[in-house]
Amino acid sequence: MATDLVLGGPVRGDDFCFRTEFLDDLWDSLRKNNILLVGPRRMGKTSVMYHLLDQPRNDCVVVYLNTEALTSPADFILQLIFALKENQPSYFFEQLGMIWGLYKNLIRHSRASEFFEIRDVLRGELNWDEHWQDQASELFNGIKRINQKVIFMVDELPDMLLRIQKRSPEQFETFLHWFRIIRQTPNACVQWLVAGSTNLIGTLDQTGHSKLINDFYHLDLPPFSYKEMENFTLKVFSEREVEFDAEVIPRVQALLGKAIPYFLQFMLKELATWSRHNEGQILTKDIVDQIFDQVLLGNRALGHLQHFYSRIGVYYPEMESEQAVDMLSFLSRSQGETLKALFARYEDFEKKRPEPRPQRQLMQSFSRLMLLLQTDFYIEDQGGRVYDFSNQLLKLWWQKYYPPSS
Ligand SMILES: Nc1ncnc2c1ncn2[C@@H]1O[C@H](COP(=O)(O)OP(=O)(O)OP(=O)(O)O)[C@@H](O)[C@H]1O
Ligand SMILES: [Mg+2]
Repeated sequence: MATDLVLGGPVRGDDFCFRTEFLDDLWDSLRKNNILLVGPRRMGKTSVMYHLLDQPRNDCVVVYLNTEALTSPADFILQLIFALKENQPSYFFEQLGMIWGLYKNLIRHSRASEFFEIRDVLRGELNWDEHWQDQASELFNGIKRINQKVIFMVDELPDMLLRIQKRSPEQFETFLHWFRIIRQTPNACVQWLVAGSTNLIGTLDQTGHSKLINDFYHLDLPPFSYKEMENFTLKVFSEREVEFDAEVIPRVQALLGKAIPYFLQFMLKELATWSRHNEGQILTKDIVDQIFDQVLLGNRALGHLQHFYSRIGVYYPEMESEQAVDMLSFLSRSQGETLKALFARYEDFEKKRPEPRPQRQLMQSFSRLMLLLQTDFYIEDQGGRVYDFSNQLLKLWWQKYYPPSS
């Protein structure tokens, strides 16, 4: 069966490529550790999580929860219970359901109903906003008694934390402490795997809470290697009978830079479309260049790339958003810049403010900003402390659409 080119959503089943060694490392690390899956945007974090759900190992019960829209600890616990029921019905009904009264109630209601109905029923029965910790303890005690390892995968955790904080700074603090204690309970039979498209450390550092997550083991999800990129391209081209010359694959690699899976899929989709519309013609380096300029950097790509820019307004501290845009514009026009040069640029921008921040504060916020730019825009040390976009498409996109203000 031909590999489908998936653009945007997580890949599952046969569409999930490579990552064999990474998955081995991840499963191995999950034996004893709670993991923070680190990887910039669109690297394939959610796809990896679904892979664990679809192909569990070591007799683990795996649960996936996207917490992007959640705004309170009570909702988090309720959704966790609901995800357990959805992802692992036999564990939920046949094992956990035997243990605790609340689950019996839940089971009574849940055979037919949707989460929101169950939530309302349960909320009516108990004051979850006040007693969520008690309910969570019941859940985790039940899991411990069953004595089978449960892996809770929490996606978009930073989004939820930001929302909880916005709604109730007090609950935010309580939740972070509770979550840390739960992770450190010995013999709990639970392991956590968390991820998000926003940088977790950068997010919590802004509020002074990064120490509350310093027990996570960080596992980096790498881009595809050059060989993987080549194999993927060959597979897609041969399945679609795309004829191409020897310069095409090196050119694709040069234009993209690091092979972030999403951008590779995007590029190959456009090349395969060209080939379908130009039957009998051979794809060459010049045509790849043309498609890159006209399509990938053109209006049609807006839907794929514009949200990178929009994130700044939504996720970055108000104070930093203009500086972030300025630094990216500056970098997009360079061949890479040293950290020193970037900081100097950041400082110059600060001087234009009516009340510039003191130097020490500025250094802290600069390093936080660099963390966010690494996750969102693939700004990385290219060697010798010279920082640059490691994705060429995003660099050229930024250069074209967001020129520096000065
Ligand atoms: N293993 C893979 N094989 C093939 N394509 C992949 C793979 N992983 C990711 N992709 C490509 O990357 C896109 C994004 O994947 P995914 O949603 O898993 O990334 P993410 O890191 O969770 O993104 P975000 O940071 O936005 O949440 C997919 O739509 C697909 O095009
Ligand atoms: Mg994701």
